Amino acid sequence: MGVLDQFEHPHGTPGRLVGWILTWANRSINERLVAELTLRGDERVLEIGYGPGVALEMMAAKLPRGSLSGIDPSETMRSQAERRNEKTLHQGRMVLSVGDSAHLPYADTSFDIVYTANNVQLWSPFPQVLSEVHRVLRPGGRIAIAVQGVAARAQAGPLGGNIDELDRSLRAALSPPGWRDYRPKVQRLWTGRALFAIAVRGA
Ligand SMILES: C[S@@+](CC[C@H](N)C(=O)[O-])C[C@H]1O[C@@H](n2cnc3c(N)ncnc32)[C@H](O)[C@@H]1O
Repeated sequence: MGVLDQFEHPHGTPGRLVGWILTWANRSINERLVAELTLRGDERVLEIGYGPGVALEMMAAKLPRGSLSGIDPSETMRSQAERRNEKTLHQGRMVLSVGDSAHLPYADTSFDIVYTANNVQLWSPFPQVLSEVHRVLRPGGRIAIAVQGVAARAQAGPLGGNIDELDRSLRAALSPPGWRDYRPKVQRLWTGRALFAIAVRGA
């Protein structure tokens, strides 16, 4: 397995190193996506592909009356995310799972928000994961997506190999009647261009 594969499937000692890199390199994309959500403080949030748990930590500080769940296929990432979010886990406001995003272990309409950063390009198969996201979101709930250009290029797949292609694929997938109000923004970070997109679950 090559070094780049560790960013997709972090495990073992190299995976722990990848987690530290992600903590530092993905902080600004997560700060911006969390800010885009303008949380009220009582939302039920699911993060898909939480990695080292940085966004969960940021959102926990803004959700005093809310709850957080996370799912990621990597045990190594769960250990790092657990250490980072120890206090919130002990308070019973957060649950972290290791699992497959194509089979989300949550009841229908469990969440107000599904959050995912540098992750949507890994969804496999993409239509099935999106259909699971639709199922677990309440009608009117939001999906929040961010992807950095560097991740889109390194992990090019059916959605495209750069953020303009990803934007077009997401606009088509997050369209009525299942979805509405697709709102994309492209911003430049110190790591390059990044796409931020929010859409609302329709029928
Ligand atoms: C590049 S990291 C991003 C982590 C984190 N969201 C961040 O902003 O730093 C990708 C993460 O996606 C997870 N992952 C890999 N394949 C996945 C899939 N099919 N569905 C959900 N998560 C996946 C990996 O285990 C890893 O934690």
